[in-house]
Amino acid sequence: MDTSTGKRKDRGVERVLIEADAVQTRIRELAAELDAIYQTETPLLIGVLTGAVTFMSDLMRAMDAELKIDFMAVSSYGDEVTSSGAVRILKDLNENIEGRHVLIVEDIVDSGLTLQYLLDVLQRRNPADIKVVALLRKLKPDAIAVQADLVGFDIPDEFVIGYGLDYAGRYRNLPYIGVLDPSEIELTKSKTAILSDTPPLQD
Ligand code: PRP
Repeated sequence: MDTSTGKRKDRGVERVLIEADAVQTRIRELAAELDAIYQTETPLLIGVLTGAVTFMSDLMRAMDAELKIDFMAVSSYGDEVTSSGAVRILKDLNENIEGRHVLIVEDIVDSGLTLQYLLDVLQRRNPADIKVVALLRKLKPDAIAVQADLVGFDIPDEFVIGYGLDYAGRYRNLPYIGVLDPSEIELTKSKTAILSDTPPLQD
């Protein structure tokens, strides 16, 4: 905790972009909008693993509408800071979505490739309709224009972590959205290089 500002600051975090309280306030607003949309239907919330678990968990508890949930895992990043562009399904849905009202719950829309891929895949399964709620959307000129019905925050094109978002699998448990300290990227790269140079242990 940085006591001079009263703001929490963790190692590897260059600065706090969105405070935890602001995240929760915005989620309550999004939940109210979704309750208004789903007054007569029971939506199936589809959380996109792994980053969206925190958002999904808080969003569904802030909603009053009757709803069901499912999860899908896709991968596009690995440990890299920029998107590779390749998307693949790691875990498919348990539920059949034909005729259902689907709400995709994403933590972040960056290049837009993951969301576009998900929309294409799910649309082919003939749901009644698909809506998208994303907590964060990066403002970047080269992002593809993709459907995002509700967006929590439009953010600058920086590497963000926390509240479910990771860098190399870490920082997901931070309660706020932070900007990754660039020196952390160099540190991780050098650690990875050291590990890959280390000969395997002998029995
Ligand atoms: C992140 C994030 C989105 C996607 C957005 O997932 O959760 O699903 O990237 O990026 P895009 O718009 O450039 O496609 P990631 O593949 O890093 O997996 P994770 O959720 O397990 O961290």
